[in-house]
Amino acid sequence: MRVDGQAYRTIAFDAQEQCVRIIDQTRLPHHFETLALTSLDQACHAITSMQVRGAPLIGVTAAFGVYLALRGGEHSLALIYERLLATRPTAVNLRWALERVTAQLEATPQSERVAVALELAQRLADEDTEACSAIGDHGCVLLEQAWQAKLALDPDAHCLNILTHCNAGWLATVDWGTALAPIYKAHAKGIPVHIWVDETRPRNQGAFLTAWELQQEGIAHTVIVDNAGGHLMQHGEVDLCIVGSDRTTANGDVCNKIGTYLKALAAFDNGVPFYVALPVSTFDFTLADGVREIPIEQRHGEEVSHMQGLNAQGELTRVQVMTSHSAVNNFGFDVTPARLVSALITERGVYSASRESLQELASAQGLS
Ligand code: MRU
Repeated sequence: MRVDGQAYRTIAFDAQEQCVRIIDQTRLPHHFETLALTSLDQACHAITSMQVRGAPLIGVTAAFGVYLALRGGEHSLALIYERLLATRPTAVNLRWALERVTAQLEATPQSERVAVALELAQRLADEDTEACSAIGDHGCVLLEQAWQAKLALDPDAHCLNILTHCNAGWLATVDWGTALAPIYKAHAKGIPVHIWVDETRPRNQGAFLTAWELQQEGIAHTVIVDNAGGHLMQHGEVDLCIVGSDRTTANGDVCNKIGTYLKALAAFDNGVPFYVALPVSTFDFTLADGVREIPIEQRHGEEVSHMQGLNAQGELTRVQVMTSHSAVNNFGFDVTPARLVSALITERGVYSASRESLQELASAQGLS
């Protein structure tokens, strides 16, 4: 997608500088800066510090991390796998990408591994872009139907109101995004969309990243506090919700940024469709019960007790927003049970969030 009118991907190999170039997402929205990764340590740090984040992008960064490790002289694929896998626990795309890349490298002679690892990482990045674009096409059909249905009821309606949580836009993937891809495609087709952007405390991926992306693409949006969604739904101000996923189980339970579950409950109570957009790499067909089985990341309490923003001098600064004497807990994700999910939008098409429907998808992918 575009930054100041120029097309970017979140991660790419920079042949001139012989490095992996990423957008440093910890500096957005106030500073747009790219960073060079040249080692396994830097790739691991980029994931843990959330310079890169979002399930699909974490996976692709790990694939580039394997390349950087091999290039740096590390020969043990097992060690590289373990180092990268330990960076973040919830998004299954990390394990998916590492398994795919290391399996192919194990079958590659040592002397060719560096070159093959780079090829594999680049292929994963291209495939992620294609998958997200296809998610956009499938999701756009649903948005178009929702817009036509709204117009049929109210010919004076002026926009389709969509609520999203966290950032599941192009910054969370290589390009296009998952939840935002249908929105970008609908906007390009002339469907008048307006997006309610949950700020998404504690790290504010909604206010910092989603709002910035939408503004760069000229899409109407409004940032709201995390607890506003239920109120808006009660007053008919939300036509549908779309979010992303970090891990989706074989029965359709969806794990996404903390607070997603509450939005799904409010949507269910108000008869608002609740869609989840995800590439097939985000399914974990080995799990059947998301609430019990998906590992939930717990992050540092400072993400809750402190906030980052611009000071009066326009400098990026951190301030403490609460007393240091209170205990803090910082669960990163929660699980939305399948019964609250209207449909799953994948690059393979739209599936209902049920074991039977996903069994078809798993079989088509050769995963069962
Ligand atoms: O902690 P983050 O910022 O990595 O969490 C990201 C999300 O929760 C996204 O919604 C999810 O990864 C889907 S991304 C296409």
